[in-house]
Amino acid sequence: MAMNETLIREQYDQMADVYDQRWNNYIAKTLSFLKNWTQISPEAAVLDIGCGTGEFERLLLTENPQQVITGVDISEKMLLMAKQKCRTYPNVSFRRASVLALPFADNSFDVVVSASAFHYFDDPTLALKEIKRVLKPKGRVIILDWCKDYLLCRICDFVLKFLDPAYRQCYTQKEFHRLLISAQFELRRTTKFRFGVVWGMMIAEAA
Ligand SMILES: C[S@@+](CC[C@H](N)C(=O)[O-])C[C@H]1O[C@@H](n2cnc3c(N)ncnc32)[C@H](O)[C@@H]1O
Repeated sequence: MAMNETLIREQYDQMADVYDQRWNNYIAKTLSFLKNWTQISPEAAVLDIGCGTGEFERLLLTENPQQVITGVDISEKMLLMAKQKCRTYPNVSFRRASVLALPFADNSFDVVVSASAFHYFDDPTLALKEIKRVLKPKGRVIILDWCKDYLLCRICDFVLKFLDPAYRQCYTQKEFHRLLISAQFELRRTTKFRFGVVWGMMIAEAA
């Protein structure tokens, strides 16, 4: 495992017990936005990268208990919370894996989502290449993350680079789109939005 991933894993292993509580408001708002914006069909096989404590899975399952979902994360403890939450659903599974080496065959998923994790990815180009590989030819990827176009995110990005050795970087919407396009994705729908008063997020769907 890369050095950065070890740091991330340690950080989230430590935080796992309190993650849902501490980030309750953030998680609820961002993930319900993601779910509504994405409109995942009930038949779609979904992969969630950086699934954390499985809150997105829980959300999807409330609407469609049959949804086939796979969650991956590098933190064992976060995954433990997720597994516990979804234990009664045989259609949901979790694996410990990095986005940089997804343990799935080519063309496995209809929809790949990732929420609030892209800013941790060491090599975003390689990450997108892996996502593309596991996506079916007609599949789509939807990535939600912080947006550096907003002042507070920009400040946070600057500060976290000093204070948080696990943090990698967040991107402007333009940089984000460029990454997707250079990974041979075609942008379908994109937007950015304020979250709370000052925070900013962006989301893109690509195929
Ligand atoms: C801020 S949490 C978001 C969790 C969840 N998606 C949510 O919205 O509540 C970021 C998650 O990404 C995971 N992560 C970071 N880098 C990763 C990587 N390279 N591969 C897979 N997961 C990763 C972390 O372990 C952490 O659980």
